Amino acid sequence: MADTAVYLKDYQPFPYCVDQVELTFRLQPEATRVMARLHLHANPARPGVNDLRLDGEELRLLSVTIGGRAIAATPDARGLTIAAADLPEGPFVLETEVEIAPARNTALEGLYMSNGMYCTQCEAEGFRKITYYPDRPDVMARFRVRIEGDLPVLLSNGNPLGAGPGWAEWDDPWPKPAYLFALVAGHLIAHSDQITTRSGRQVALNIWVRPGDEDRCAWGMESLKRSMRWDEEVYGREYDLDVFNIVAVDDFNMGAMENKGLNIFNSKCVLATPETMTDDEFARIESIVAHEYFHNWTGNRITCRDWFQLCLKEGLTVFRDQQFSGDLRGHAVKRIEDVLALRARQFREDQGPLAHPVRPDSFVEINNFYTATVYEKGAEIIGMLKRLVGEDGYRRALDLYFDRHDGQAATIEDWLAVFQDATGRDLTQFSRWYFEAGTPRVQVAEDWQPDLAGGTFTLTLRQDNPPTPGQPDKGAKVIPVAVGLLNPNGDEVLGTTILELTEAEQSFRFEGLGARPVASVLRGFSAPVVLDHPVSPETRAFLLAHDTDPFNRWEAGRSLAKEVLAEMVVTGAAVSRPWLDGVARLATDDTLDPAFRALALRLPSEDDLAATLAAAGHVPDPAAIHAARRRMGDALAAALGAELAALRAAMTVSGPFSAEAGPAGRRALANACLALQTRLDGGEAARAAFAAATNMTDRLAALVALIDIGAGAEALAAFEAEWKADRLVMDKWFMVQVVHAPPAELAATVEQLTARADFNMDNPNRFRAVFGAVSANHAGFHHADGAAYRLLADWLLRLDGRNPQTAARMSTAFETWRRYDAGRQALIRAELSRMAATPGLSRDLSEMTARMLG
Ligand code: PHE
Ligand code: ZN
Repeated sequence: MADTAVYLKDYQPFPYCVDQVELTFRLQPEATRVMARLHLHANPARPGVNDLRLDGEELRLLSVTIGGRAIAATPDARGLTIAAADLPEGPFVLETEVEIAPARNTALEGLYMSNGMYCTQCEAEGFRKITYYPDRPDVMARFRVRIEGDLPVLLSNGNPLGAGPGWAEWDDPWPKPAYLFALVAGHLIAHSDQITTRSGRQVALNIWVRPGDEDRCAWGMESLKRSMRWDEEVYGREYDLDVFNIVAVDDFNMGAMENKGLNIFNSKCVLATPETMTDDEFARIESIVAHEYFHNWTGNRITCRDWFQLCLKEGLTVFRDQQFSGDLRGHAVKRIEDVLALRARQFREDQGPLAHPVRPDSFVEINNFYTATVYEKGAEIIGMLKRLVGEDGYRRALDLYFDRHDGQAATIEDWLAVFQDATGRDLTQFSRWYFEAGTPRVQVAEDWQPDLAGGTFTLTLRQDNPPTPGQPDKGAKVIPVAVGLLNPNGDEVLGTTILELTEAEQSFRFEGLGARPVASVLRGFSAPVVLDHPVSPETRAFLLAHDTDPFNRWEAGRSLAKEVLAEMVVTGAAVSRPWLDGVARLATDDTLDPAFRALALRLPSEDDLAATLAAAGHVPDPAAIHAARRRMGDALAAALGAELAALRAAMTVSGPFSAEAGPAGRRALANACLALQTRLDGGEAARAAFAAATNMTDRLAALVALIDIGAGAEALAAFEAEWKADRLVMDKWFMVQVVHAPPAELAATVEQLTARADFNMDNPNRFRAVFGAVSANHAGFHHADGAAYRLLADWLLRLDGRNPQTAARMSTAFETWRRYDAGRQALIRAELSRMAATPGLSRDLSEMTARMLG
């Protein structure tokens, strides 16, 4: 690797403090001028004689002055050094003027243009592409911004100071790191509202969009207001400016960004109408709006000392948005969905060459560490902490965190210290969760002694912490294992109890039970581990029917499905009766939440099954997995038979559209049934449903059901005719064709889609719609001819020259390569090596390929 790594152990405070920054922007697409005035003084935390090093990349430097005197300073490719000898004693003012070209910025970091509007993305290190600055999160300053440009709407962080034709000024009273800076300018329209905070502050709320999108903002606004209320009620946190602005932009590398008072969103993550967005997308928008809003306290008021501490803000903010969605939409279903996502992305990462600790200790390119591990496992760790210290302890710890660290750039050590100080609990061993990578495996063994102490049941738990890159040996972790016991009638004889596993192996005894109980282990998924609890299919079916913990009830069906599928792949066995009967009974049980029943009908993914097989010592065969999973779906369809139509009819939603959990759950169950029905009726029901659909959820479900049986052509054409002018809707049209292409046709489908005039690789949403879907088509991606591997590598290389961040993120499609057979391994290794050897490869993609090659 040509680029050098940065290490946590090398952290030192910056030798200067920035009290105040004044920025002036003179906007021009090809030549924007940025004038910066930095008010600096020496940092007492870093005594001595220190040069002043400013970060800066791709800037044309026009002038530098200190205290009004010109300084001769020659920038290098990554910044500008001003010798200590040139710096006065005491506070001083440094002024620079630079020129940048937002219109030519395809990387979408720094200041760039998207559909004629100017916008910024500064996290993590984008501000250095705007001006020379100490671009690190522990340098916090007050920002005052003047924007000059011939555009009607000119926005920045904080409160408006003044505006006139062609200019606007903004003042942000809260000191912040540069990564939270934002600027937006364009022909925008606001969807406006307002809220009064609980202390009586009036806050103007705006969602800014391009003309034509005004009618797509209502849901985002509703979500924002709910988030603001929730954070007041649950965490006691109030908003702290007079305005809160959200802007929707079409070209954005990630989901959204929490810039102080001016959140910038990928339009896909905020714009919605029933006709254009699915229920899942509505729910996602609600959670992302909340996530970004919650960052105002967890991220902005308290930020990170350095980028190794990224999970300090991201893990906590994900945890908070998950709590919020659970409160609004139901905790059982939300937990199942979160665990599905955790296993699909984070377990996959943690068990491969890209595994890294939630708090990494080195990186080459920080953009590569916005990962499922930092975000989702980071949130799981907080969930465990909360379980261990209880509701009250958690609340006290969080209050102390906000009290003690408001206005600071903090660390994971600070975070753990507030829990220790607020609850008295020693977290030394627990802290390993932050510093050690890998998914622990927990083995469960049961023992039953009917004659001992009125019937004694013993659970023996053993933990294994497998090696990960750079971390061969690991100590035992603190693992909270939630357990319940059921008697043979299905009644609970022991309610949910937390067993704290702290050693490699420990036994827990339960006495006086009379009859042998059935153990429900790891309820609510109380720790992010792989559970190895060998029980019979009958016991799993029993738990599927009776478990009082909804997560584990679902999990019983899922484990059973995975075991059955693995059998089918390895031995060619038939679909097992206990699973079919159990799932069919659950799906038709009217006493249960439809959303939960829909989840029970969902089969494990092919990727999940490949991982399961690999962990059990098999070499997964993607074609065989694909075939077995289809057989399983067919068998489930046959088992439910005529009930499918009845169930769908019973789930009909009447009245005006609502995206709330209730109606969305009914649609989810109805559409799960439609997919199965389509296996039986040649597409008759799906064609009718497609024609009759009045919302995107139903329309897309019918379309996918048809594509899945090879009968999608007509519906695809109709869909395209209706939506060809709508970028966000057409992304779905691109995606479903790739995800659901027959494996042997995947490469050809992609070639045909990328040849279209409306395939624009500079739009990350469109690129992801196609190439994110390539690896989501497991059997197609891993087709033995290697065509999809080659195609993806070709396009990643092409994208890398224009947008390295997105290219590098998407290269994780290859991270599982060591699971597969020698032939596929050789094909993927060749593609990774080819990418790694490409001259001029970005720092982002070269770090990823090097790590994957190991
Ligand atoms: N900080 C953003 C979030 O989690 C994510 C993000 C990272 C966006 C980097 C853009 C660039 O909400
Ligand atoms: Zn975040």
